[in-house]
Amino acid sequence: MNVQTPHTADITNVDESLALQEAQAKMDSQFATDVAMQNTLLTPRFYTTDFDQLDAIDVSPVRKDWDALIAEMEADPNKGHFKKNEDWDEVDWEGMEPGLKKEFIDFLISSCTAEFSGCVLYKEMKRRGKNGDIVQLFQLMARDEARHAGFINDALREAGVAVNLGFLTQKKKYTFFQPKFIYYATYLSEKIGYARYITIYRHLEAHPEHRFHPIFKWFLEWCGDEFRHGEAFALLMKTDPKLTSGRNVLWIKFFLTAVYATMYVRDHQRPEFHKALGVDPDWYAHSVFTKTSALTEQIFPITLDIEHPRWQPTLERLHRANVGIAEGKSEGGLSGRLKSWANSARAALCFVQLYTIPANKHRVPQSTRLEPVY
Ligand SMILES: [Fe+2]
Ligand SMILES: [Fe+2]
Repeated sequence: MNVQTPHTADITNVDESLALQEAQAKMDSQFATDVAMQNTLLTPRFYTTDFDQLDAIDVSPVRKDWDALIAEMEADPNKGHFKKNEDWDEVDWEGMEPGLKKEFIDFLISSCTAEFSGCVLYKEMKRRGKNGDIVQLFQLMARDEARHAGFINDALREAGVAVNLGFLTQKKKYTFFQPKFIYYATYLSEKIGYARYITIYRHLEAHPEHRFHPIFKWFLEWCGDEFRHGEAFALLMKTDPKLTSGRNVLWIKFFLTAVYATMYVRDHQRPEFHKALGVDPDWYAHSVFTKTSALTEQIFPITLDIEHPRWQPTLERLHRANVGIAEGKSEGGLSGRLKSWANSARAALCFVQLYTIPANKHRVPQSTRLEPVY
């Protein structure tokens, strides 16, 4: 008997989508949820903010671009896209090399958590807001992120694990960020998300023999959603020039450095995954940073100098320090603690060294709107 159940990809409303996720949670594994619950510097977090301040934004200064973007999102170009179809090849989870399987599952869980983190934040803004423009935008973005998280969870279920998203919503710790930090962090994570998905997609387009899982075929349309979300945050920031000038530029530099460094360290924890994709993680990082920097020139007056002679070697040292922290933790005891502590200090120093590399400055264009070109 074939029982037709609704699919998250068909749902156009975030609440229904989450209700469906909840119904499926019975199959979800403790393991995946435990991983998603972790709150370290390197794992995706959940955020909360001053929603009233966010709600007070007046988008009139960017009205024309705003309306065009909202119309694009309302048209829902990816409705029905996030669903397995005949392009979804059979995945041989049993036959997958154990190291790769472990890293790939870790990648999926972390991506699912990150997508869902966007969903809960946007959904909460939609729930609390009274400003029609803001509520509409956040509703549309929450819809997209619920689909993305749901689709990754569908892929995880085939491997016998999945994240219990309902449990996460209730139990995962929320980090408070004031709205301007939400703009910087979320804008960057949307744009770097676009750059990451499109770089993998284009690489596998040229080297299909490395496409070891069908989910990568979905990345092209997927990154279109992330691109639009990034555009929305660029417009929100454009409404208030103070957000991208003066002392705030130091904060922008801080978030750029933190987001790039976190990505570098996190990706370098997954050597088997990148080997299977046929991707050198250093090349990948550099390629994603280059694209992200070019995109963020639409709104940020600085970009990081990723060609600076200190940039790459410091990232490598940061990665080694991170390995040292993990080793110290697993060794345990006093010597383990000391090792972990010494490497934390080393990692902090690396961060300072990255942060103090002089940034590239440039003029920000009058209009922020961009089209995806990669
Ligand atoms: Fe997403
Ligand atoms: Fe997004």
